[in-house]
Amino acid sequence: MLVCRTISEIRGFVRQARARSQTIGFVPTMGYFHEGHLTLMREAKKACDVVVVSIFVNPLQFGPQEDFNEYPRDFERDKRLAAEVGVDALFTPPVEEMYPAGFSTHVEVAGLTQCLCGLSRPGHFRGVTTVVAKLFNIVLPDRAYFGQKDAQQALVIKRMVRDLNMPLEIVTVPTVREPDGLAMSSRNVYLGPREREAARVLYRSLKLAERAVAGGEMDVARLLEIVRQEIASEPLAQIDYAEIRSLPDLEPLARLQGPGLLALAVRIGKTRLIDNTILNPGNSGGAGDAFNYV
Ligand code: PAF
Repeated sequence: MLVCRTISEIRGFVRQARARSQTIGFVPTMGYFHEGHLTLMREAKKACDVVVVSIFVNPLQFGPQEDFNEYPRDFERDKRLAAEVGVDALFTPPVEEMYPAGFSTHVEVAGLTQCLCGLSRPGHFRGVTTVVAKLFNIVLPDRAYFGQKDAQQALVIKRMVRDLNMPLEIVTVPTVREPDGLAMSSRNVYLGPREREAARVLYRSLKLAERAVAGGEMDVARLLEIVRQEIASEPLAQIDYAEIRSLPDLEPLARLQGPGLLALAVRIGKTRLIDNTILNPGNSGGAGDAFNYV
C-alpha cells in the first residue's frame, strides 16, 4: 500500500491507475478507523479496481470550541488496518498541503445545511464541502463512499456533486453498530464506562420511533415526544436536537407520508453523538433499504 503525503504523489498514483483504465473508489476519512470506516473501504474494494483512502483531520470543519486538537489520531494503526482491507493508497496530507497560505476559496451548499447539525455547528458543512470538493479534485474518483450515520453530510455532498456536475457517484453505506446498537464513531472513545452505557439511549429511542411507525403512528410531534421521553429517562443525556425531516430535502414535516429522516444529536457528558434512522411507513417503520434515500 502506497502512502502519500503530497497532492502530486497521489495524483501520480491516480494517473497511473487511469492509464491502466482502472476505476477508482475513494473513502475520505479523518482517521482513527473503526468498523464503519473499514466497511466503506470493503464496499469500495468490491466495486472499484483501485481504492484510495484519505486521512485528514480537517480544521475547517471544527468550530473554535470543538475537539480539533483532541480528535483521536493513530496513524500506524490506521495504516495497518487499511492494508489489511486491501486499500491501494493512503493520502495523508499535512494541513499546509491542503490549505497553503492565502487559501481563500470555499464551497457552500445552501438550504440543506441550515438545519440539524448546520445550526448546532455553524460553518461545519462549509468546511466539509470545501475539503471534500478539494479531495475529489485531487483523487478524481469514480465513486466515493460515505456512511449513513452522517446522513445530513451524505445528503449535502450528494447535492454539491449534483449542483456542480462533479463526475462521480456518491455511495451511501448503512451505519455500522456495536452489538448493543451504538453507532460506531471515532468519538466513542471519549465516553467513560458510565457514559458508554448511557449512550445506548440513542439507538433505543430510534427503535421506539420505528416501532411506533410500524404501529401506525404518523404524527411527527407524537413520534418526537416518544423519542424525547426516552432520552430524558437517561440522566447523562442532553438533547441537542431530535427532529424528523423529509428526504432528500430535509424540510420540516408534520406527518409522515413517505420516508422521513429521524435525526438525533445528543450530548452524553461532554461528548456529542449523532445517530439517525429512516422512518418509512411503507416499510414497517424501520430503516429497511434506507440508503436508497440518503
Ligand atoms: O465524515 C468525515 O469523516 C469527514 O466529515 C470527511 C467526510 C472525511 C470530511 O473531512
